[in-house]
Amino acid sequence: MPDTPAPSPDSIMQLGLGFWASKALLSAIELGLFTELAKGPADQPTLARKFNLHDRSARDFLDTLVALKMLNRDGGGASTAAAIYSNTPETDRFLDRNKPSYMGGILEMAGTRLYPFWGSLTEALHTGKPQNEIKSGDNLFAALYSDPARLRQFLAGMTGLSLGAAHAIAAKFPWKNYKSFIDIGAAQGAVPVQLALAHPHLKGGNFDLPIVGPIYKDYIRTFSLSDRLAFHPGDFFKDPLPPADVYIMGHILHDWNLDKKKALLAKCCATLPPGGALIVYEALIDDDRRTNAFGLLMSLNMLIETTGGFDYSGADAAGWMKAAGFKSTRVEHLCGPDSMVIGIK
Ligand SMILES: C[S@@+](CC[C@H](N)C(=O)[O-])C[C@H]1O[C@@H](n2cnc3c(N)ncnc32)[C@H](O)[C@@H]1O
Repeated sequence: MPDTPAPSPDSIMQLGLGFWASKALLSAIELGLFTELAKGPADQPTLARKFNLHDRSARDFLDTLVALKMLNRDGGGASTAAAIYSNTPETDRFLDRNKPSYMGGILEMAGTRLYPFWGSLTEALHTGKPQNEIKSGDNLFAALYSDPARLRQFLAGMTGLSLGAAHAIAAKFPWKNYKSFIDIGAAQGAVPVQLALAHPHLKGGNFDLPIVGPIYKDYIRTFSLSDRLAFHPGDFFKDPLPPADVYIMGHILHDWNLDKKKALLAKCCATLPPGGALIVYEALIDDDRRTNAFGLLMSLNMLIETTGGFDYSGADAAGWMKAAGFKSTRVEHLCGPDSMVIGIK
């Protein structure tokens, strides 16, 4: 009989103290470290001055990011040469605020909002109640959007969350068969922009709360897409949906309880033309609820952020879509933890 290796505590310790590494990265993003280093490599005294890092913190903070593979370093450490820090190819591409590929918006929000709210996870597990700005029982979007800086941060955060999925939806859905789309609750507009860039024949729009309009329009303008991408102000629970061949809902259904999820699906189905399509994309939980940890954690994030929201599997969504009147459904993986469910009317 081969000896069974003795259990090791390594994975437990790594996960249990994972918030140390997470917060080091979130602080670096909050400071704008990667945006600064995208201009060129820099030494420790320069970075310490620029970001007001204390003598006790600077070297350990920067070398921690090297060890976590978020920065490169020449010199320093055991070498006698002075340490020169630079971005890795990944941090340069995705964490430089000046690039359209910037994905740090969601991580900026994670650092300033979600990190403290997740400190009350145990309370949420006991009470089933949100732990964010709406702890007193308000609507998430009303609370978030009452502060202009928080509104902008949230909408840009959605771009960071959805940019990978946006590229994949542009590549994997048969857009040549359709002429128009409405992204219902598109926030800043990451998905509409990628669809319009990849498919010049498409016209589209964002149906979202009126307050989102100016921020969406600013974003669209930076890609010179204002002539093909419209804004439709409205409330998806009260107002009619603008007509289109394809509707998209990304991270919408997970915000709401089951009755509201079903009401939104029924409204989409009722308004689409025959043959029209609905694309629902999220970090869908695997049907067996064992492997997509990100999707399951996202559902706990909805516990913290909303009064009734939860994430779900592809099979769950397909079942609700069929009940709403869609003739056929299929689930396709997009990228990372994200998948889409397509319903055809
Ligand atoms: C979680 S965000 C998802 C954003 C985007 N679809 C994505 O996945 O990146 C939810 C979006 O729904 C919008 N929204 C919330 N309640 C709404 C309502 N009642 N009517 C229309 N849009 C709403 C918000 O403004 C926000 O843009």
